[in-house]
Amino acid sequence: MTTAVQKAQTVQQNNETNTPPATQAVPRVCLVTGGTGGIGTEICKRLARAGHVVATTYRNEEKAKAWKAQLAAEGYTLHIYKCDVADFEDSQRAVKAIVADLGPITVLVNSAGITRDTTLRKMSHDQWREVISNNLDSVFNITRPVLDYMLENNFGRIVNISSINGQKGQFGQANYSAAKAGMHGFTKALAQEVAKKGITVNTVSPGYIDTDMIQGVPEPIRLGIMSQIPVGRFGKPEDVAHVVSFLVEEGSGFITGANIATNGGHFMD
Ligand SMILES: NC(=O)c1ccc[n+]([C@@H]2O[C@H](COP(=O)([O-])OP(=O)(O)OC[C@H]3O[C@@H](n4cnc5c(N)ncnc54)[C@H](OP(=O)(O)O)[C@@H]3O)[C@@H](O)[C@H]2O)c1
Repeated sequence: MTTAVQKAQTVQQNNETNTPPATQAVPRVCLVTGGTGGIGTEICKRLARAGHVVATTYRNEEKAKAWKAQLAAEGYTLHIYKCDVADFEDSQRAVKAIVADLGPITVLVNSAGITRDTTLRKMSHDQWREVISNNLDSVFNITRPVLDYMLENNFGRIVNISSINGQKGQFGQANYSAAKAGMHGFTKALAQEVAKKGITVNTVSPGYIDTDMIQGVPEPIRLGIMSQIPVGRFGKPEDVAHVVSFLVEEGSGFITGANIATNGGHFMD
């Protein structure tokens, strides 16, 4: 006897041979800032696997070249461009170069970010400025030139990678929490400006994800954080990449101005 699951599989197989599956991506040129990072890498891989052309920006040349070679060995063709996203002129130059090489960018993931943690009493003006310019100014610097190509194409997907700590604040992170909360304000304003042009703008707010950033936290503090996560584990970069890939799909055009918490239930608002 054929089970319901087998019937569903047969329908799915027939669909795959006759019509494209609902999730099949139209190939796009995607720019992922911070693509060489722990989360950024998984976002790049996921978008490339969906059939997109993926470029990333980097500052650290040695790291970026090794990253590209490692991913090429795994079968991924990714494009790397040197660019300090905290610098507006450099960002404009890099966007032009990517478009000249690969075509108009219609998917943008702003994932570049840094932390410089300390309490406000001890925070220098440089530590404040560095975090704001790398995490928040960078979103303006890259989105501004990329938006022109999205408007010309009447299609765009912008995903800003914020943080749980932009939602709830965090001791020792006044600079980072301010920048990450600011990203979502940017998302909501821009989402309204471009909604009628086929462009969506959303924020993804990861909780604690098991990357070098988390491995740098002393073990007792790490275990204390983990005990507060209802799902009982740190997130994986793949958890964040999964949400990003969903938001950039054609079928996600009705989701805009949203903040998708990806934190294992650690913070709910
Ligand atoms: N890991 C977590 O648990 C966690 C949780 C919540 C949110 N987030 C956010 O998620 C995003 C990705 O995190 P991640 O773990 O992938 O970070 P990561 O491993 O530290 O990587 C950061 C990336 O950003 C790039 N970058 C930073 N400043 C840049 C600049 N001015 N110009 C160009 N590139 C720059 C770095 O490139 P170079 O190395 O070449 O400088 C690197 O590729 C960040 O925005 C982070 O704040 C992370």
